[in-house]
Amino acid sequence: MHNKLANNHLPGKPYTAGQAIPVRELHAGHKDEILNHLLQLNDEDRHLRFGTQTPDEVIAHYVEHIDFNRDTVFGIFNDDLKLIGMAHLAYLPESKNQTRAAEFGVSVLPEGRAQGLGTALLQRSAVHARNTRIETLYVHCLASNKAMMHLAQKAGMRVEHAYGDADAYLKLSPASPATIVEEAANEQWADLDYAMKSNLKKTNQAWWWLLGRPGLAP
Ligand SMILES: CC(C)(COP(=O)(O)OP(=O)(O)OC[C@H]1O[C@@H](n2cnc3c(N)ncnc32)[C@H](O)[C@@H]1OP(=O)(O)O)[C@@H](O)C(=O)NCCC(=O)NCCS
Repeated sequence: MHNKLANNHLPGKPYTAGQAIPVRELHAGHKDEILNHLLQLNDEDRHLRFGTQTPDEVIAHYVEHIDFNRDTVFGIFNDDLKLIGMAHLAYLPESKNQTRAAEFGVSVLPEGRAQGLGTALLQRSAVHARNTRIETLYVHCLASNKAMMHLAQKAGMRVEHAYGDADAYLKLSPASPATIVEEAANEQWADLDYAMKSNLKKTNQAWWWLLGRPGLAP
Protein backbone atom coordinates (compact mmCIF):
# COMPACT_ATOMS: atom_id res chain seq x y z
CA MET A 1 0.00 0.00 0.00
CA HIS A 2 2.76 2.35 1.00
CA ASN A 3 4.69 1.84 -2.21
CA LYS A 4 1.75 2.28 -4.51
CA LEU A 5 1.29 5.85 -3.44
CA ALA A 6 4.88 6.61 -2.65
CA ASN A 7 6.50 5.63 -5.91
CA ASN A 8 4.17 7.24 -8.39
CA HIS A 9 6.26 10.32 -8.99
CA LEU A 10 8.39 12.31 -11.35
CA PRO A 11 11.32 10.54 -12.99
CA GLY A 12 14.92 11.38 -12.20
CA LYS A 13 14.48 12.05 -8.47
CA PRO A 14 16.37 10.09 -5.80
CA TYR A 15 13.25 8.36 -4.55
CA THR A 16 11.71 7.34 -7.83
CA ALA A 17 13.78 4.29 -8.63
CA GLY A 18 10.94 1.95 -7.68
CA GLN A 19 12.09 1.23 -4.14
CA ALA A 20 10.09 1.83 -0.99
CA ILE A 21 10.83 5.05 0.81
CA PRO A 22 12.47 4.20 4.15
CA VAL A 23 10.52 5.84 6.96
CA ARG A 24 12.10 5.51 10.43
CA GLU A 25 10.43 5.84 13.77
CA LEU A 26 12.25 8.57 15.74
CA HIS A 27 12.82 8.76 19.49
CA ALA A 28 13.77 11.38 22.06
CA GLY A 29 17.42 11.07 21.03
CA HIS A 30 16.46 12.64 17.69
CA LYS A 31 15.23 15.91 19.21
CA ASP A 32 18.18 17.92 17.89
CA GLU A 33 17.59 16.64 14.36
CA ILE A 34 13.86 17.34 14.61
CA LEU A 35 14.55 20.87 15.85
CA ASN A 36 17.10 21.47 13.12
CA HIS A 37 14.64 20.20 10.50
CA LEU A 38 11.79 22.43 11.65
CA LEU A 39 14.02 25.51 11.99
CA GLN A 40 14.91 25.15 8.31
CA LEU A 41 11.29 25.69 7.28
CA ASN A 42 10.68 29.25 6.09
CA ASP A 43 7.92 31.46 7.50
CA GLU A 44 5.34 30.32 4.96
CA ASP A 45 6.03 26.63 5.53
CA ARG A 46 5.89 27.11 9.31
CA HIS A 47 2.54 28.81 8.86
CA LEU A 48 1.28 25.89 6.78
CA ARG A 49 2.68 23.32 9.21
CA PHE A 50 1.52 24.87 12.49
CA GLY A 51 -1.39 27.03 11.31
CA THR A 52 0.15 30.22 12.67
CA GLN A 53 3.30 32.33 12.59
CA THR A 54 5.86 30.23 14.42
CA PRO A 55 9.09 31.83 15.66
CA ASP A 56 12.15 29.75 16.51
CA GLU A 57 11.42 29.80 20.27
CA VAL A 58 7.94 28.35 19.73
CA ILE A 59 9.39 25.57 17.58
CA ALA A 60 12.01 24.85 20.26
CA HIS A 61 9.25 24.65 22.88
CA TYR A 62 7.18 22.37 20.64
CA VAL A 63 10.08 19.98 20.07
CA GLU A 64 11.06 19.98 23.74
CA HIS A 65 7.53 18.91 24.69
CA ILE A 66 6.95 16.12 22.19
CA ASP A 67 5.88 13.17 24.30
CA PHE A 68 7.58 10.18 22.67
CA ASN A 69 5.86 7.79 25.10
CA ARG A 70 2.42 8.84 23.92
CA ASP A 71 2.95 10.01 20.33
CA THR A 72 4.92 8.66 17.42
CA VAL A 73 7.30 10.63 15.24
CA PHE A 74 8.53 9.37 11.88
CA GLY A 75 11.42 10.62 9.81
CA ILE A 76 13.09 10.23 6.44
CA PHE A 77 16.85 10.76 6.17
CA ASN A 78 18.75 11.62 3.00
CA ASP A 79 22.14 10.18 2.03
CA ASP A 80 23.92 12.63 4.37
CA LEU A 81 21.65 11.46 7.20
CA LYS A 82 19.91 14.80 7.21
CA LEU A 83 16.29 14.63 8.35
CA ILE A 84 14.49 15.85 5.24
CA GLY A 85 10.98 14.76 6.15
CA MET A 86 9.19 14.17 9.42
CA ALA A 87 5.69 13.50 10.67
CA HIS A 88 4.21 13.77 14.14
CA LEU A 89 1.35 11.41 14.89
CA ALA A 90 -0.22 12.93 17.99
CA TYR A 91 -2.70 10.75 19.87
CA LEU A 92 -5.72 12.75 20.97
CA PRO A 93 -7.06 12.23 24.49
CA GLU A 94 -9.72 9.52 24.63
CA SER A 95 -13.20 10.64 25.52
CA LYS A 96 -16.51 8.87 26.02
CA ASN A 97 -18.57 8.10 22.91
CA GLN A 98 -15.74 9.20 20.65
CA THR A 99 -13.59 7.06 18.47
CA ARG A 100 -9.88 6.81 19.20
CA ALA A 101 -8.20 9.47 17.07
CA ALA A 102 -4.80 10.89 16.21
CA GLU A 103 -3.68 14.05 14.44
CA PHE A 104 -1.09 13.99 11.70
CA GLY A 105 1.35 16.87 11.08
CA VAL A 106 4.04 16.69 8.42
CA SER A 107 6.87 18.66 6.86
CA VAL A 108 9.32 17.96 4.06
CA LEU A 109 12.22 20.30 3.35
CA PRO A 110 12.00 22.00 -0.08
CA GLU A 111 14.83 19.90 -1.56
CA GLY A 112 12.90 16.71 -0.79
CA ARG A 113 9.50 17.72 -2.12
CA ALA A 114 7.50 16.19 -4.97
CA GLN A 115 9.26 12.84 -4.59
CA GLY A 116 6.60 11.07 -2.58
CA LEU A 117 8.09 11.68 0.88
CA GLY A 118 4.99 13.38 2.27
CA THR A 119 2.86 10.54 0.91
CA ALA A 120 5.20 7.93 2.41
CA LEU A 121 5.04 9.63 5.82
CA LEU A 122 1.24 9.73 5.65
CA GLN A 123 1.02 6.09 4.65
CA ARG A 124 3.44 4.98 7.36
CA SER A 125 1.53 6.99 9.96
CA ALA A 126 -1.82 5.59 8.81
CA VAL A 127 -0.57 2.01 9.07
CA HIS A 128 0.94 2.66 12.50
CA ALA A 129 -2.30 4.31 13.60
CA ARG A 130 -4.29 1.26 12.48
CA ASN A 131 -1.89 -1.04 14.33
CA THR A 132 -2.36 1.00 17.51
CA ARG A 133 -6.18 0.89 17.36
CA ILE A 134 -6.70 4.41 16.07
CA GLU A 135 -9.97 4.68 14.17
CA THR A 136 -9.77 8.24 12.83
CA LEU A 137 -6.78 10.14 11.49
CA TYR A 138 -7.09 13.93 11.25
CA VAL A 139 -5.08 16.53 9.42
CA HIS A 140 -5.80 20.15 10.18
CA CYS A 141 -4.59 22.41 7.41
CA LEU A 142 -5.15 25.79 5.84
CA ALA A 143 -7.55 25.53 2.91
CA SER A 144 -4.88 27.31 0.85
CA ASN A 145 -2.43 24.46 1.42
CA LYS A 146 -2.82 22.92 -2.00
CA ALA A 147 -0.04 20.36 -1.64
CA MET A 148 -1.39 18.99 1.65
CA MET A 149 -4.98 18.97 0.40
CA HIS A 150 -3.88 17.10 -2.69
CA LEU A 151 -1.88 14.64 -0.61
CA ALA A 152 -4.80 14.06 1.79
CA GLN A 153 -7.33 13.55 -0.98
CA LYS A 154 -5.01 11.21 -2.82
CA ALA A 155 -4.82 9.12 0.36
CA GLY A 156 -8.62 8.90 0.44
CA MET A 157 -9.22 11.45 3.21
CA ARG A 158 -12.50 13.34 3.38
CA VAL A 159 -11.91 17.08 3.49
CA GLU A 160 -14.29 19.51 5.26
CA HIS A 161 -13.80 23.26 4.99
CA ALA A 162 -14.55 25.85 7.67
CA TYR A 163 -13.50 29.52 7.90
CA GLY A 164 -10.44 29.28 5.65
CA ASP A 165 -9.24 26.12 7.38
CA ALA A 166 -9.81 22.55 6.38
CA ASP A 167 -9.99 19.34 8.33
CA ALA A 168 -9.20 16.14 6.54
CA TYR A 169 -10.37 12.86 8.05
CA LEU A 170 -9.44 9.31 7.31
CA LYS A 171 -11.56 6.55 8.80
CA LEU A 172 -9.16 3.68 9.38
CA SER A 173 -9.99 -0.01 9.18
CA PRO A 174 -8.84 -2.16 12.08
CA ALA A 175 -5.35 -3.64 11.98
CA SER A 176 -4.85 -6.86 10.06
CA PRO A 177 -1.97 -9.34 9.76
CA ALA A 178 -1.04 -7.47 6.57
CA THR A 179 -0.71 -4.08 8.32
CA ILE A 180 1.38 -5.62 11.11
CA VAL A 181 3.73 -7.24 8.57
CA GLU A 182 3.83 -4.06 6.46
CA GLU A 183 4.89 -1.96 9.43
CA ALA A 184 7.52 -4.47 10.58
CA ALA A 185 8.95 -4.75 7.07
CA ASN A 186 9.09 -0.97 6.66
CA GLU A 187 10.81 -0.57 10.02
CA GLN A 188 13.44 -3.17 9.13
CA TRP A 189 14.03 -1.68 5.71
CA ALA A 190 14.37 1.81 7.23
CA ASP A 191 16.88 0.56 9.83
CA LEU A 192 18.90 -1.21 7.13
CA ASP A 193 18.82 1.85 4.88
CA TYR A 194 20.00 4.07 7.74
CA ALA A 195 22.83 1.68 8.63
CA MET A 196 23.98 1.58 4.99
CA LYS A 197 23.91 5.38 4.66
CA SER A 198 25.76 5.70 7.96
CA ASN A 199 28.50 3.27 6.84
CA LEU A 200 28.83 5.01 3.50
CA LYS A 201 29.13 8.39 5.18
CA LYS A 202 31.84 7.09 7.54
CA THR A 203 33.74 5.51 4.64
CA ASN A 204 33.60 8.75 2.66
CA GLN A 205 34.80 10.72 5.69
CA ALA A 206 37.68 8.27 6.19
CA TRP A 207 38.70 8.69 2.54
CA TRP A 208 38.61 12.46 2.78
CA TRP A 209 40.66 12.26 5.96
CA LEU A 210 43.21 9.95 4.31
CA LEU A 211 43.38 12.30 1.32
CA GLY A 212 44.17 15.12 3.70
CA ARG A 213 41.01 17.17 3.46
CA PRO A 214 40.86 19.32 6.60
CA GLY A 215 37.87 19.36 8.91
CA LEU A 216 36.43 16.04 7.76
CA ALA A 217 38.17 13.66 10.14
CA PRO A 218 36.04 10.61 11.05
C1 LIG B 1 2.79 19.25 2.26
C2 LIG B 1 4.18 18.62 2.14
C3 LIG B 1 4.48 17.82 3.40
C4 LIG B 1 4.16 17.69 0.90
O1 LIG B 1 5.40 17.00 0.87
P1 LIG B 1 5.92 16.24 -0.45
O2 LIG B 1 7.04 15.36 -0.07
O3 LIG B 1 6.17 17.24 -1.52
O4 LIG B 1 4.64 15.38 -0.82
P2 LIG B 1 4.50 14.32 -2.01
O5 LIG B 1 5.65 14.42 -2.94
O6 LIG B 1 4.23 12.98 -1.42
O7 LIG B 1 3.15 14.75 -2.69
C5 LIG B 1 2.87 16.09 -2.97
C6 LIG B 1 1.72 16.09 -3.95
O8 LIG B 1 1.15 17.40 -3.95
C7 LIG B 1 1.21 17.91 -5.25
N1 LIG B 1 1.35 19.34 -5.13
C8 LIG B 1 2.43 20.03 -4.71
N2 LIG B 1 2.15 21.36 -4.75
C9 LIG B 1 0.88 21.46 -5.16
C10 LIG B 1 0.01 22.56 -5.42
N3 LIG B 1 0.41 23.81 -5.22
N4 LIG B 1 -1.26 22.30 -5.86
C11 LIG B 1 -1.68 21.04 -6.06
N5 LIG B 1 -0.90 19.94 -5.84
C12 LIG B 1 0.35 20.18 -5.41
C13 LIG B 1 2.39 17.22 -5.91
O9 LIG B 1 2.28 17.24 -7.31
C14 LIG B 1 2.21 15.82 -5.36
O10 LIG B 1 1.16 15.17 -6.03
P3 LIG B 1 1.38 13.80 -6.88
O11 LIG B 1 1.98 12.83 -5.91
O12 LIG B 1 0.00 13.39 -7.30
O13 LIG B 1 2.29 14.15 -7.97
C15 LIG B 1 5.28 19.70 1.90
O14 LIG B 1 4.89 20.51 0.81
C16 LIG B 1 5.54 20.58 3.13
O15 LIG B 1 6.34 20.24 3.98
N6 LIG B 1 4.85 21.75 3.22
C17 LIG B 1 5.04 22.66 4.36
C18 LIG B 1 4.40 22.13 5.65
C19 LIG B 1 2.96 21.70 5.44
O16 LIG B 1 2.21 22.30 4.67
N7 LIG B 1 2.52 20.66 6.15
C20 LIG B 1 1.17 20.14 6.04
C21 LIG B 1 0.27 20.62 7.14
S1 LIG B 1 0.43 19.65 8.57
